[in-house]
Amino acid sequence: MAAQPAVVPATRHLSARIRALPAAWLRDNCPCPECRDPRTGQKLFQITDLPRGLAVEEVVEPGPDSPCVEVGWAPDGHRSRFTVGWLDAHRPADSPLTGDRRTETGKELWSAADLAGRLPEAAWDDYLADPARRARVLEALQRLGFALLRGVPVREGQVLAVAETFGHVRQTNYGRLFDVRVEPDPNNLAFTSARITPHTDNPYRDPVPTVQLLHCLENSASGGDSGLVDGFHAAALLRAEDPEAFAVLTGTPVPFVFRDDRTELRADRPLIEVDARGRIREVRFNNRSFGTVRLPAAELDAFYAAYRAFGELLLRPGLQLDFRLAPGDCLVFDNTRLLHARTAFAQDGSRHLQGAYADLDGPASCLAVLRRADSPALLAELFDGAGAAEYLGEEVTMAAHMLQAGALAEAAGAPPHLVAAALLHDVGHFGEHATGAEAGADADADVTEYGDTRHSHTGADFLARWFGPEVTEPVRLHVAAKRYLCTVEPGYREGLSAASEHTLRLQGGPMTDAQAAAFARRPYAADAVAVRRWDEQAKEPGAATPEFGHFLPLLTSLLHG
Ligand code: OGA
Ligand code: ZN
Ligand code: ZN
Repeated sequence: MAAQPAVVPATRHLSARIRALPAAWLRDNCPCPECRDPRTGQKLFQITDLPRGLAVEEVVEPGPDSPCVEVGWAPDGHRSRFTVGWLDAHRPADSPLTGDRRTETGKELWSAADLAGRLPEAAWDDYLADPARRARVLEALQRLGFALLRGVPVREGQVLAVAETFGHVRQTNYGRLFDVRVEPDPNNLAFTSARITPHTDNPYRDPVPTVQLLHCLENSASGGDSGLVDGFHAAALLRAEDPEAFAVLTGTPVPFVFRDDRTELRADRPLIEVDARGRIREVRFNNRSFGTVRLPAAELDAFYAAYRAFGELLLRPGLQLDFRLAPGDCLVFDNTRLLHARTAFAQDGSRHLQGAYADLDGPASCLAVLRRADSPALLAELFDGAGAAEYLGEEVTMAAHMLQAGALAEAAGAPPHLVAAALLHDVGHFGEHATGAEAGADADADVTEYGDTRHSHTGADFLARWFGPEVTEPVRLHVAAKRYLCTVEPGYREGLSAASEHTLRLQGGPMTDAQAAAFARRPYAADAVAVRRWDEQAKEPGAATPEFGHFLPLLTSLLHG
C-alpha cells in the first residue's frame, strides 16, 4: 500500500446524501417524539397523515454539539433529527437484505462435509449457565438450522423445559409433547420401528410448527440412527441444476393431509416456498402425508418430474448429516428448512424419544435480547492483545493487517458490512482462547469441500455474536475465495505473498472448475472475493492506518443485522 488510505469522514456530504434519499421513506422514519412514542418507540402517525409532496427543505449538518443531522421539511415545517449511525445502518441497498433471517440469504447452507468436525453443540449445563453459550446455540439454530444439546437430564417431560428456555411450546393434537417409540396401534409411521426418510414434520398444519425438538431418553436398539438434510441447500441446488423443476415446485401448492379418528388436518403449500423476491424461505417435504395433487393433466407430468428430481436431490450422497442420538441429547431444529430422518431399528433394545414443537420467533427474540448486553468494543481488546502478534510469516502484525484491510475497504467506498468483514476477516487467528473456538480448532489445513479452513469458520462463528451473515459469511468464505480466485483469475496466484502461497497448498490448492462454479453460486461469494482482494493488499509493513476505535461507530451501526 503506497500511502495512507484516504478516510472520508463519515459526516461529510451528508446534505447531498440526505437529499438523495426518498423523501417519504425518510420522513416515515422520523424518530421525533411527535412521530414516535418515546416510551414504546412505536409510530404515532398513519402514512395517510403525511402531507403530499414532501420534500427536504433544509439540512443542518452535525456539529460539535450535535451528533445528529437535522432535516427541515416542506410543506409542513416539521423537523427530524437522524444519527449518522442510523443513516449508515439503513442505507438503501440493492443487495438482498437478510431481514428476519428466515430466507436463504440469512443462512449458511451446508452439506454433511461442510460440518465435519464442527457440529453446533453445547452441554446443557453450560447452555443454562452462560449467556454467551446460549447465544451461540441460538445463532447456530438460525444460521445452520439446528443445534444439539448434550447432557439434558434424561427425564420424561424434559423436552418441554428445553423448549421453554427459548420460547413457547406449540401444543398440537399429539399433545404438548409426543412420544416417539413403538406403539401397539400407531396413528403415524413415526410410532413404529420403520425407517423414516428425510421429511419435515406436520406439513398438514397451518401454520406449520417452525421449530422441532427431539429429546433422546433411550436408544439401545440396533439402528435408529438420525439424519439431517439442509433443505435450503437442496432447493438451491435444484434451482441451479434444474431451474424449470424449481419453478414448478415453487409454483404448485401440494395438499398435505393427516387423518385419524379424532383429527383431520389439511394444508395446501408448495414443496419449496420463496418470498416476494424469489428467495427460498420454506421447504416442506413429507411423503407420508403427501395428498392427491389436483392439476390439469398436462401439468401433472411436469409436477411429478420435478417432485422426483427434488426427492432424488434430497437423497444425494453427501448431503445428509448422519449421527446417533444418545440418551440426554436434545436436537433442536428449524422444521421449515431441515429435513430429518431415522434408519429402521430392531426390537433388540428400546428406543424412546420425546418430541415437541415450538416456533422460530422465540429463539430469534432470545438471541436478539442476549445480543443487547454485548458490545463489539470487546473486539478492541483483541486488536491490542492477541492481534499484536506476528501474522503467519507476514511482515505485519495481525492487527495491522486487519486494520489495513478495513481501511482499504473504506477507502474503496465499500458498504459498512464489507468494511466490517474486511476489518475482522482474520479474527479467527486471534486464537482459541480469545474467540471461544470449539475444541480441536487447530490446523489451517482442515480442508472441507470448498477448502474452507478452520480460522475462517472460527472467526465467522465468533462474529455471529454481534453481526448477521452479511458480515460473517464473507469472513467465512474468505479462504475459499482465495482458492477460487487462483482458479478463475489468471495471474492471481503469482501475486500471493509467500506465506499465502504456503497456506494455499495446505488449504487444498486452487479449486477445480466445478468447485469454482459451485462457489460462485453461494450467497456472499462476491462479497468474500471483495474481502479477499483487500486481504491480499493489506500486508504492507509500516502502512499508516486508523486506530480500531475509528471503526467502532460503523461496527455499532451494524449490530443485530
Ligand atoms: C418424528 C420423527 C425421528 C426419529 O417423530 O417425526 O421423524 O428419530 N422421528 O424417530
Ligand atoms: Zn419427523
Ligand atoms: Zn487476512
